[in-house]
Amino acid sequence: MSQDIISTCHSERSPRHSERSEESQISPFGRNDIMTQKIFAGETMTEKRVLAVHGPNLNMLGKREPEIYGSTTLDEINANLKALGEKLGLCVETFQSNYEGAIVEKIQGAMGNCAGLLINPAAYTHTSIAIRDAVLLLDAPVIEIHLSNIYKREPFRHKSLIADIAVAQISGFGVQGYYLALEGLAVMIR
Ligand code: DQA
Repeated sequence: MSQDIISTCHSERSPRHSERSEESQISPFGRNDIMTQKIFAGETMTEKRVLAVHGPNLNMLGKREPEIYGSTTLDEINANLKALGEKLGLCVETFQSNYEGAIVEKIQGAMGNCAGLLINPAAYTHTSIAIRDAVLLLDAPVIEIHLSNIYKREPFRHKSLIADIAVAQISGFGVQGYYLALEGLAVMIR
């Protein structure tokens, strides 16, 4: 997984390491480190890793109830998160699944190697003790995000099993909520 992060992240240069040889392209930061390092155009960069997890049906953003969730696709949100992360010196990995167990395993895999988690558990927000328990494994700040204001919607959406273990919740800002959350997280983990 860390290889994915390394290969998909871009960040500002760290001139201190600019003289390193080609061999140093193998990151000294291992699987169990919240930092990642890579060489880009001969320069070595270090970044904090952030994981953004999207729950079920969010792969349908853009088509799904646009009057509630807007017209932006998940690919666009992810690209924007990665670009914003780059500006903030963060390496953002994104993950979406419609399966509870896959989300649990992804969060388990982030143990010890992520500086923060952004999560929109979607419908699992209201039902999944398994995802809650996985989030509790992380020793990193967690921000819960919802595109819609879940408290203005049906009563079954008012209960979140993540809210009391998250450092913050953003609900009702549409896609801006993701970017606000990443900016807030960047301040927290600076
Ligand atoms: C959602 C709200 C949930 O109640 C719903 O099941 C979703 C999306 C949101 O982003 O507003 O799938 O998490």
